[in-house]
Amino acid sequence: IAEAKVSVLDRGFMFGDGVYEVLPAFGDRIFALDRHMARLERSLSALGIDNPLARAEWHDVLSRVLENYGATGKSVYIQVTRGVAARDHVLRSDVVPTVFVMCTEQRKSEPKPVVAITREDIRWQRCDIKVTSLLANVMLRQEAEDAGAFETILVRDGHLTEGAASNVFVVQDGTVKTPPYSEHLLPGVTRDIVVELLVQASIACEVSPITREELHAADEVWLTSSTRDILLVSKLDDRMIGSGGGGQMWSKASGLYLAYKHDQLSIEAQ
Ligand code: PDD
Repeated sequence: IAEAKVSVLDRGFMFGDGVYEVLPAFGDRIFALDRHMARLERSLSALGIDNPLARAEWHDVLSRVLENYGATGKSVYIQVTRGVAARDHVLRSDVVPTVFVMCTEQRKSEPKPVVAITREDIRWQRCDIKVTSLLANVMLRQEAEDAGAFETILVRDGHLTEGAASNVFVVQDGTVKTPPYSEHLLPGVTRDIVVELLVQASIACEVSPITREELHAADEVWLTSSTRDILLVSKLDDRMIGSGGGGQMWSKASGLYLAYKHDQLSIEAQ
């Protein structure tokens, strides 16, 4: 990290003109690698940045980064920016993308249910692309931090979109629900896997719009992300969620998800 250098004219620095991925890893294995690579390709193509590496080359870079990083539980961060060019809003075709990959130690997952707040979703209309320009997300997430909460859950035009750095699920009367994809939320790798596992386990799961009122009246609220798995929210805007059932459905979903993740990563049950 101390030796890595990037030009001050890199468009990632100048304009936030780049995309990224965060992949959970254990030892030399990456969880859901293909899904993350597919999303990276989709983000790059949405911005018209040529993918600088073929899949096999990506795999090689990732293996080398994992090999050189000691900890077992870790996250890999990939960033691709459009590259270095004289500062100009207008895009040039002869720019070479900048690639940055690093490993960090996996944060300890939150042992207890977390507290969240809701805010208006003030972000742009392409939240489906995983771009590095995250200023609105940073400001919204900071509002949670300042309120002593863990996450800010976003509402646009009266409907739940996602968290500042997570996707959101609610449980109502035994049915698990999460909002459908649109330009207002990120297609989450964890969210997709959770939906698939619930369907496989014949647990009622609906992908449909969720109003602010439904969010506040939910029996359970969960947050999903690659770095946090599935977190249960106990309190939203200073009100307890549900009837204090202790997140029975969350417990099931979390069990299914962690069993699947550990199986994919060949981690022995602890
Ligand atoms: N963020 N929505 C947003 C806005 C996010 O930033 C993230 C994850 C997610 C969850 O996506 P996934 O399950 O694919 O990690 C949803 C990463 C972890 C981050 O920015 O660090």
